[in-house]
Amino acid sequence: MKLFDNEIKSETVDFEEYKKLREDIERYNRYYYDEDRPLISDKEYDDLIKKLQKIEEKNPELKNIYTVFSKDNSDISDIEENPEITPTEKIGGTASEKFSKVVHSVPMLSLSNTYNISEIEDFDQRARKITGLDKKLEYILELKLDGLSISLIYEKGMFKQAITRGDGQIGEDVTENVREISSVPKKLKDSIDVEVRGEIVLPISNFNKVNEIREEAGEDVFANPRNAAAGTIRQLDSSIVKDRGLDCYLYYLVNPERYEIKTHLESMEFIKKLGFKTTDIFEKYTDFKELEKSIEKWHDEREKLDYETDGLVIKVNDFSYYNELGYTTKSPRWAIAYKFPAEQVKTKLLDVTFQVGRTGVITPVAELEPVTLSGSVVKRASLHNFDEIERKEIKIGDNVIIEKAAEIIPQVVNVVFEDRTGKEREIEKPTNCPVCGSELVKEEGQVALKCLNPVCPEKVKREIEYFVSRDAMNISGLGEKIVEKFIELGKIKTVVDIYSLKDYREELENLEKMGKKSVDNLINNIEESKNRGFNKVLYSLGIPFVGKFTANLLVKNFKNIENLKNSEIEELLQIKGVGEKVAISVHNYLNNEDNWGKINDLKGRGLNFSLENAEEIEIEDNPIKGKNFLATGKLEKYKREEIKEIILSKGGNYLSGVSKNLDFLIAGEKAGSKLEKAEKLNVRVLTEEEFEREFLK
Ligand code: IVH
Repeated sequence: MKLFDNEIKSETVDFEEYKKLREDIERYNRYYYDEDRPLISDKEYDDLIKKLQKIEEKNPELKNIYTVFSKDNSDISDIEENPEITPTEKIGGTASEKFSKVVHSVPMLSLSNTYNISEIEDFDQRARKITGLDKKLEYILELKLDGLSISLIYEKGMFKQAITRGDGQIGEDVTENVREISSVPKKLKDSIDVEVRGEIVLPISNFNKVNEIREEAGEDVFANPRNAAAGTIRQLDSSIVKDRGLDCYLYYLVNPERYEIKTHLESMEFIKKLGFKTTDIFEKYTDFKELEKSIEKWHDEREKLDYETDGLVIKVNDFSYYNELGYTTKSPRWAIAYKFPAEQVKTKLLDVTFQVGRTGVITPVAELEPVTLSGSVVKRASLHNFDEIERKEIKIGDNVIIEKAAEIIPQVVNVVFEDRTGKEREIEKPTNCPVCGSELVKEEGQVALKCLNPVCPEKVKREIEYFVSRDAMNISGLGEKIVEKFIELGKIKTVVDIYSLKDYREELENLEKMGKKSVDNLINNIEESKNRGFNKVLYSLGIPFVGKFTANLLVKNFKNIENLKNSEIEELLQIKGVGEKVAISVHNYLNNEDNWGKINDLKGRGLNFSLENAEEIEIEDNPIKGKNFLATGKLEKYKREEIKEIILSKGGNYLSGVSKNLDFLIAGEKAGSKLEKAEKLNVRVLTEEEFEREFLK
């Protein structure tokens, strides 16, 4: 609908466009703040906000008439005050219902952003104009940490409360979770009342560890350290926080005048002395050229840090100017954030090769013309699967844009279509395994191409990597190089041959960096692994969909591998916690001749394939553990069986009917009598989304 203006507006604007833009931004906000799962990059988001801002600057009335129009297509005469705030004036997300809400003593504001050094000069000009200064202002340049902002409150030097930013006015009380972060002091060096603000981050090294563990356990990995940090703090179980290794850096003192502190630098000294952690990077500048040089420097320098930064913050040092400079609805005028440009670069796709995974799945890999990206040379990037190649219309010889978030393997973002010459070639799906040459197959109901050769050297190498890993047989000292060498020598053909390595002492000792001592250790570790329980052994086989928990269940119910092999799919399905996917996978795996042969060989080497010695695998604490659930009605995202499997695998119970023992009823559409009964009994009813948000994070 076009708004014909003049009476109320200065310029004609397409209202539908404005409405769509606002709705899009609001949706992106919900994902970013409330679900810790961003859908678009920061740069794309900031561009949309700028676009909205521009429209609103020219047509300020739109901010208020928006809701009226979005509700129905009312006439302009219906315009009334609209309580909904436009995203250009709103901060952050909304406080979640999960935690109690707290009103901030002083609003937690955001920072205005720029991607452009010249806009920092404009910021300086504006600041000097407002303060009427002809001399230069003193600025502090510091890192902009990419985590979850937090306000920490202390009374008489004792830690009292931690509050998230929320919408800037009201945040969530996450005290119990923050208490588990070791760098957050519980008692200060001075027994004063104080409130400080900063960022909770997950160091990149810990982020990688957390994701490795999640990947091994078949759980979804976090997209980046920011999501991991926010997701960890905004879940209900504080014991999880302890294990993840979060860190907290402070960069803001609330009401510094209470302590007669006059500058930002002094305030940072002050909070450090109290026992808080800061990044220690606070650079003072009066000369703009110097400041700009430092900004350039930090583009690369930040790569060396173990925490993620998404830019730099430039703050006026002297607090005495703060009042005069003032605030916009969203941010202070005494600071500005410079965001690092998205780390993208153009390069040529020279070829596509194919990688063989542990289960034989073939993954395409982009071989690139080497290019420097975020400080390191990139030659390869993941293409994930053939669907992605088709979706992005990628051809060999294309110029492509690649991107790398600090922690993640480079990705191909898109093809530069305007660079096409016509000489590009289609990427052909391989017909044979690139390593062993055996014919690839597409298994029924699956999209991926697979190498089924049980002795494919690449598959065996990856199988061994998994077999010896910490949660599996936990054999340390058997690194990739040794495995590769022994596969090459023909001494390792399957995972079973690990147990013959003791016959090749000399060859082992001759390997680079392997002395007698490390060979002794390795052989001891291999021998010692024969004591692992049946559940560990079963898990180590790497049967698709059989994680630690499922391995435990199968071992308890079937006692030995023969019983398990002879069980019918229906029998497997009888087990609480085993769903169709798992049942079919286990049945097929054990009834495959090659796999069964391998199992018998491992048994011959002395590995445990019956219940004696099985070690119980504890289920990690999580909000589902010990609680009673039931699902009813038509679910959108999960099959009933799947949701049941998730609950059971996390140590929850799945009840057959509604009773007062039920803790949660997950209700889909058209839920009938069960829902009514649950409501009568005051059982908490969840939508699928609420279940995901509260229990699966
Ligand atoms: S100062 C009144 N300093 O960036 C503004 N914020 O986009 C106080 N952030 O909400 C914030 N590093 O969560 C400040 N060195 C830094 C920061 C920083 C990261 C975050 C903070 C803020 C957001 C604004």
